Amino acid sequence: MKAIVCTQYGAPDVLQIQERLQPKPNANEIRIRIRATSVSAADYRIRGLNIPAGLGFLMRLVMGFSRPRKNILGVEMAGVVDAIGANISQFTVGDKVFGLSGVGSGAYAEYICVKESSAVVKMLKDLFYEQAVAIPFGAHTALTFLRDKAKLKPGQRILINGASGAVGTAAVQLSTIMGALVTAVCSTKNIQLVKDLGAHKVFDYTCETLNADDGYYDVIFDTVGTLSFSQGKKLLKAKGLHLTAVAGLPQYLRMFWASLWPGKRYLSGIAVESKQDLEYMNRLVEQGQYVPVIDKTYDFEQIVDAHRYAETGHKVGSVVVRVNI
Ligand SMILES: NC(=O)c1ccc[n+]([C@@H]2O[C@H](COP(=O)([O-])OP(=O)(O)OC[C@H]3O[C@@H](n4cnc5c(N)ncnc54)[C@H](OP(=O)(O)O)[C@@H]3O)[C@@H](O)[C@H]2O)c1
Repeated sequence: MKAIVCTQYGAPDVLQIQERLQPKPNANEIRIRIRATSVSAADYRIRGLNIPAGLGFLMRLVMGFSRPRKNILGVEMAGVVDAIGANISQFTVGDKVFGLSGVGSGAYAEYICVKESSAVVKMLKDLFYEQAVAIPFGAHTALTFLRDKAKLKPGQRILINGASGAVGTAAVQLSTIMGALVTAVCSTKNIQLVKDLGAHKVFDYTCETLNADDGYYDVIFDTVGTLSFSQGKKLLKAKGLHLTAVAGLPQYLRMFWASLWPGKRYLSGIAVESKQDLEYMNRLVEQGQYVPVIDKTYDFEQIVDAHRYAETGHKVGSVVVRVNI
């Protein structure tokens, strides 16, 4: 099979298409013929070893020193089940599925084997593979932060910084579904999009300041890491929560310091993937409550261009890669 291999950390052209052996599912695995994958922030950050300040050594220790040990990247996939192991009961050959490939990545390939219990689900609605693949990464991250960490409630006010990326577009929609009042921060070109996704109010970060809303928010969710705790603190209510999806060592030290005092809290963490979350997203999509947002779609052979575009930090929703070999 063909796979895109990350030959070392570096610029997008370290990605090369190579031949690999087709994997065989073991008794508890399904094999997926991948039809679409994506360039998520996880993929472009790992490839470029673009890691928040102070965490580079730790990342090399975990991921590999000069190149990723798991050198086929790709965390999101959509495709069709083409083989199953002896103990599989929830899937059959021919099922259309989408999901996340886990810490081993591996979705930049024609085939992948994953455990039946992993974060992969059958598509409820007959979506295009390109649509389905744009759901998991942003949605599971937003659910971890908004539902699990913030325990967002109806009527609460939330500020979402970076509302137009994969995580941001999911966060705006899911906050709205949870009944919160969303203020979104994005640039001029994305104002209409975030309004359409449910934002009540929008700040254009290219020409407006946030100070007007001092003491107004229950929750801040920063998906880009440009809002410091000192800036966020002024905007939060007395017991408000500032969440950031992007934190380096200085931010973790600040979180520890803030945790020693009563009042406003500052938290980050790692999103946890689960089958249940994708089943929940499946239902929202089926009911028409949630729409995956897609920016550009590339062919498998254009992976270098797709990475070059995504790592500008200005994509809107997802960058999708068709696996049309
Ligand atoms: N902690 C975790 O477990 C976890 C999980 C997933 C992702 N993340 C992290 O979360 C971050 C966001 O992920 P993503 O997938 O949403 O990335 P993304 O899709 O690449 O985000 C790009 C978006 O950020 C916006 N943006 C850039 N600069 C901005 C600024 N100064 N103010 C407001 N918006 C700005 C861009 O809008 P404009 O073009 O309008 O500027 C663009 O739409 C990544 O750094 C990723 O590593 C963390």
